Amino acid sequence: MMPQIFSEQQMLRVEYKSKETGNVFAYIYGVPHIGLVTLHVDEQYRRQGYGMKLMQEYIRLVKEKTNETFVRFECHKDNSPALALYRKLGFSFREETDDDCATIICLLKVGI
Ligand SMILES: CC(C)(COP(=O)(O)OP(=O)(O)OC[C@H]1O[C@@H](n2cnc3c(N)ncnc32)[C@H](O)[C@@H]1OP(=O)(O)O)[C@@H](O)C(=O)NCCC(=O)NCCS
Repeated sequence: MMPQIFSEQQMLRVEYKSKETGNVFAYIYGVPHIGLVTLHVDEQYRRQGYGMKLMQEYIRLVKEKTNETFVRFECHKDNSPALALYRKLGFSFREETDDDCATIICLLKVGI
């Protein structure tokens, strides 16, 4: 299945749509230099490689459309599925900050 790619101003978005329903079931979007990214795969589509493919495509787009040499994400420390995915992609742990409700981990992939 081919992902759909959107690039508007500084926002990049990649998504997968169901062929049957036309509904988006997996997406990632963010503003590269800010590092704000949302990644989501609907539950029934998880562990089928879509999260990995979205991340790989997002990293490819950051490289293609910006001068950035790194990608940065933030993630809750207790989100083990997401952390496992980011580590598998070669992200490294950089810092932890405690906000009022949760511990946030900053993940960085340099030399993209
Ligand atoms: C995190 C998320 C995007 C992963 O999507 P996914 O399509 O299931 O991920 P993939 O199938 O591409 O998995 C790739 C790798 O990530 C790791 N991984 C993914 N889900 C995992 C889980 N539940 N437990 C452990 N490792 C997991 C594994 O290493 C996996 O490789 P493998 O299947 O060969 O073992 C999905 O669980 C999700 O949408 N979660 C809710 C939203 C969220 O947490 N977003 C991230 C915010 S920081």
